[in-house]
Amino acid sequence: MIKTSAIIAASENNCIGLENDLPWHIPQDLKRFKSLTMGKPVIMGRKTFESIVARLGKPLPGRDNLVISRSGFEAGGALVCPDIESAVAKAKNLAEEKGLDEVFIIGGAQIYELAIPFLDHFYLTRVHIVVNGDAFLPALNEQDWREIERDDIDGTPSFSFITLERVSASRQVAP
Ligand SMILES: NC(=O)c1ccc[n+]([C@@H]2O[C@H](COP(=O)([O-])OP(=O)(O)OC[C@H]3O[C@@H](n4cnc5c(N)ncnc54)[C@H](OP(=O)(O)O)[C@@H]3O)[C@@H](O)[C@H]2O)c1
Repeated sequence: MIKTSAIIAASENNCIGLENDLPWHIPQDLKRFKSLTMGKPVIMGRKTFESIVARLGKPLPGRDNLVISRSGFEAGGALVCPDIESAVAKAKNLAEEKGLDEVFIIGGAQIYELAIPFLDHFYLTRVHIVVNGDAFLPALNEQDWREIERDDIDGTPSFSFITLERVSASRQVAP
């Protein structure tokens, strides 16, 4: 089975973004993001794609980039899909062709909201600060998830790498 996972960093008040960028700079988190997603298909909303291209000058290297847009957006170096269902289906086809066992939802807020009912795994970086941003993670239903891994890291700011696994009965049908 090919797992659908999400990876996200969120503050204590579930803020994930400010002015189409991340509200913090945590190199260890970027490193973890890279090692977990490298080689695997990554699905994102049009705004997140634009913020990545603004930062890197190109789509995420070494990964198939799939962008969800309903506005006819053309994404150089990425595949544009009209909805979450077709994006996940296409990502899983690509993963199967390459013998991979996981595809990633990488944001932003609008796309996490669409994807949460279908996720198997959630890699959360909880950043231990409160931020006044403009993009927020929708609240997770705690009964649907169990924590299977946690690593608390001191720093400025401090943060925790948390892996959540869905309680299987709460998963909705495809994608
Ligand atoms: N902290 C983190 O881990 C993290 C991760 C990723 C992103 N972020 C942050 O999140 C923010 C961006 O999030 P966002 O919610 O504003 O934007 P987003 O989810 O990245 O993209 C929104 C766009 O996705 C498309 N879309 C949304 N719903 C759709 C649907 N049902 N069908 C088809 N297309 C749909 C639309 O594109 P069109 O307008 O082209 O139709 C919409 O404008 C930024 O601040 C970014 O830095 C944070």
